Amino acid sequence: SAESICGICLPYFCPDIPDARNSGNRSDWLVSLPPLRRKRTWKSNIMEIPTKTLKVRIKILHLSDVHIDLQYKVGSNAVCNEPLCCRSQINETNKAWKWGDYRTCDLPWWTVNDVLQKLSKTNQEEPFDYILWTGDVPAHDVWSQNRLNQLYMLHNITSLLVQYFPNTPVFPAVGNHDSFPSNNFPPASVNTGAAYSAQWFYNALWKAWSVWLPSSTKETIELGGFYSTLVKPGFRIVSLNTNFCYTENWWVWLDPVDPSGMLQWFVKVLTSAEMSGEKVQVIGHVPPGKQPDCIESWSFNYIRILERFQHIITAQFFGHTHNDEIELIYNEDGTPMSVAYIAPSLTSYIFMKPAYRVYDVDGYHANTTWSVTNHRTYTLDLKKAHQTNKPNWLLEYDACDAYNQSYLSADNWGDMIGQWEKFLTNKHATQAFYQ
Ligand SMILES: *[C@@H]1O[C@H](CO)[C@@H](O)[C@H](O)[C@H]1NC(C)=O
Ligand SMILES: *[C@@H]1O[C@H](CO)[C@@H](O)[C@H](O)[C@H]1NC(C)=O
Ligand SMILES: *[C@@H]1O[C@H](CO)[C@@H](O)[C@H](O)[C@H]1NC(C)=O
Ligand SMILES: *[C@@H]1O[C@H](CO)[C@@H](O)[C@H](O)[C@H]1NC(C)=O
Ligand SMILES: [Zn+2]
Repeated sequence: SAESICGICLPYFCPDIPDARNSGNRSDWLVSLPPLRRKRTWKSNIMEIPTKTLKVRIKILHLSDVHIDLQYKVGSNAVCNEPLCCRSQINETNKAWKWGDYRTCDLPWWTVNDVLQKLSKTNQEEPFDYILWTGDVPAHDVWSQNRLNQLYMLHNITSLLVQYFPNTPVFPAVGNHDSFPSNNFPPASVNTGAAYSAQWFYNALWKAWSVWLPSSTKETIELGGFYSTLVKPGFRIVSLNTNFCYTENWWVWLDPVDPSGMLQWFVKVLTSAEMSGEKVQVIGHVPPGKQPDCIESWSFNYIRILERFQHIITAQFFGHTHNDEIELIYNEDGTPMSVAYIAPSLTSYIFMKPAYRVYDVDGYHANTTWSVTNHRTYTLDLKKAHQTNKPNWLLEYDACDAYNQSYLSADNWGDMIGQWEKFLTNKHATQAFYQ
């Protein structure tokens, strides 16, 4: 009904929906959580080692939202008044730049090739322990896509990563633009008929991702594009298909209750990780949070899970917004609980510098916490790259340096946000974040 759609997608406008099951009322459905196994004492001892002096650390490369446009044409019209430009006829006034363009354009393939080539050199000198790849490979030409070209892009990027990082583990997550049609991720409970089933896509995902993932992940990838796998003894990654909470995945409107049982599966994985003494990092494409576009009831349950397992979930990584953002999640008593890092996009779409990020994670020693201690974000100035015909990827900022922290943790982010909120009394701190 109109009411239930409003309740799911616009919970602020429609808080009082009578149709309980489809209302998006966050109390309507709850995943079941195991009781706490012991009193919560882990809060205080999270991270005491300053990152700058930390010798034992893990380096993660995070790539997100590459949106490669294979039809990108240098010199074409960059201001075309369509959802995606830089791919039409030559235009004398608004010529698309060589390495990408800020004006409503996705990234040419050669720019992606350039950055991966450079990163592979970095990798030879100072190896990444693993790569997080949080989805959205195709361009924004959603009206002209089909199954075949989506599969081609999946294959193309997978091959490129394998070519440049033959010995580096890659942990992918599925983006809303990766399926066809875009955003088409029906929950297992909804019978779509063959024409709109995403089974062909999940099968292809498994086939592509199996170069990096063990066969134990096949079942859930083919069920719904999510999986969990051990990175090292005591350390696990869970990749969620958060398109199951995406408001533009219209199938979810038909049955928003834990689509494909993924959250209950997540609880099962975390429960067994807790028993085995493992730490867990969570990755996905669409970040949780009802604003702007993850369904409220799903987010609410996701955060209940984080709350229950906060002592073993050491970090979360997402993409999708194309912005450089963080989400800090708080306990009910107002103490910071968990940080979700939202990496900026590789695509410039729109008015963004192409970007990627490298995280330092505390690792490889007896009391390893597997939590993020610092990160560095690198960007490409497209205008300069065009003028000099040299794409120069530069450090934009080092988070600890920029924010004057010795390491990053939920508590430290909480302090920083407290500072930013006092904008009028501490312009310096707020500006560091805003820039
Ligand atoms: C949401 O659901 C709960 C439990 O079913 C109910 O008590 C509450 O009144 C509902 N809230 C709204 C705004 O519908
Ligand atoms: C070139 O761009 C201008 C300004 O946006 C537009 O008016 C014109 O129609 C474009 N020409 C072509 C051939 O696309
Ligand atoms: C990926 O696309 C590029 C650009 O069209 C092409 O040169 C390359 O051969 C493709 N790679 C694969 C494995 O399809
Ligand atoms: C950075 O942090 C240190 C220690 O917390 C503090 O003494 C110093 O004043 C801070 N510097 C700036 C520029 O805020
Ligand atoms: Zn995207």
